[in-house]
Amino acid sequence: MRLTINGAEHDVLSPPLATLLHVLREEIGVTSPKAGCNQGGCGACTVLVDGEPRRSCLTPVAALEDAHVTTVEGLGEPDALSEVQAAFHEHYAAQCGFCTAGFVMATEALTRRARGDVERAEVIEALSGHVCRCTGYVKIVEAATAAVRGEVSADEASADTAPHAPDEVTLIPGSPA
Ligand code: FES
Ligand code: FES
Repeated sequence: MRLTINGAEHDVLSPPLATLLHVLREEIGVTSPKAGCNQGGCGACTVLVDGEPRRSCLTPVAALEDAHVTTVEGLGEPDALSEVQAAFHEHYAAQCGFCTAGFVMATEALTRRARGDVERAEVIEALSGHVCRCTGYVKIVEAATAAVRGEVSADEASADTAPHAPDEVTLIPGSPA
């Protein structure tokens, strides 16, 4: 079957009942979605499927023929952040970062759906299925609210957020990184 992931088409070789999370991380090498609970309860694996947030740990790829999947890797670049990424950077909305990709993608979906002067309660509702084990909710909600309202400084989008060392990163299959 074929999937479009962050604008690039891929032939998926995993079995049809493999989860989208498995395909992204272990077959394609897209590692921003995280395996937190693998049971649909934490939101760390959230990606967009045709623009809607989905728990990739619960989504068999067989249900996604010709779907368009977007992950954090498809949003911005280290020196050209998307508005949501820039908001999270500006508001220091990550601690260990394990939950961050899920929150960013949920915020991205809300921004596409309801950009404007949303109430804080709407943002909290949209993020309510996400768990941050570092309990960084105040900063996360501030960042998400700013992103949805479009209150992100232009300088943040071009901030230098690229990792500086090491040059080579070795990813170990099955690791949570
Ligand atoms: S890993 Fe999918 S919801 Fe927790
Ligand atoms: S920043 Fe650590 S789990 Fe949320």
